[in-house]
Parts: sequence; structure tokens; C-alpha cells
Amino acid sequence: MDRGPWTKRKREKNMTKEYEVAKVSEIAPGTAKQVEVDGEPIAIFNLDGQFYAISDTCSHAQASLSEGEIENGVVTCPWHGAKFDIKTGKNLSMPAPVPVQAYPIKIEGDVIKIVV
Ligand code: FES
Repeated sequence: MDRGPWTKRKREKNMTKEYEVAKVSEIAPGTAKQVEVDGEPIAIFNLDGQFYAISDTCSHAQASLSEGEIENGVVTCPWHGAKFDIKTGKNLSMPAPVPVQAYPIKIEGDVIKIVV
């Protein structure tokens, strides 16, 4: 039975891919690195040995969040100072109007993978 385009969309939505994006040894604790997945810049953060990935593009005016200051699990946008929760991408202060996307990460040995 043909269920039409909705079924196809749902199937595509449930498909995930893993991308090798960096090595653990490349990102020191308290720092970040910009990587690219399918043309999208993503920021990987090392918070005391735990890795997190959020969109690298600030939701205000597209600054690179991987260049922001990192403190207590929060990154401050280098352009106008909006703050984001590194673990969730939640916008914590203006002028960022909305959150940024957070991505699951997998660590396999020294390899960091992003799941999209
Ligand atoms: S570009 Fe990030 S706060 Fe303006």
C-alpha cells in the first residue's frame, strides 16, 4: 500500500548518520573547535573531558560560537555577548532570540563522531 509522501518523510527523518569530525586529543579541556558536517559549521566543546556539539552559528547574527569565551558550561558569543548552554544549545541571554541546535556525540577511542 502506498502511504504517500508522509511515510517517506518519516522514514528519512528517522535515519541518522555518524560523521567523524575530530580527535579527542585536538580539543583541550575548556576549548572548542569548529568542524563542518554537510556544509554546516558545528562547534565541539570540551568541558572537563566531556564533549558537546552545538551549531557553531549564533542565532543572533551568525558569529562563530567556537570563538566565544567558555565558562561554567556556557559560551558567550564573541560579537554581541549572547550566552548559550553548551550542553543543550539553549539561548540564555539576549540578543540571541532562539536556541541553537545541539547534536549527540559519540567518542570511540580518540575519535569524536557527531550524530545527525
Ligand atoms: S552574533 Fe551572537 S550575539 Fe550577535
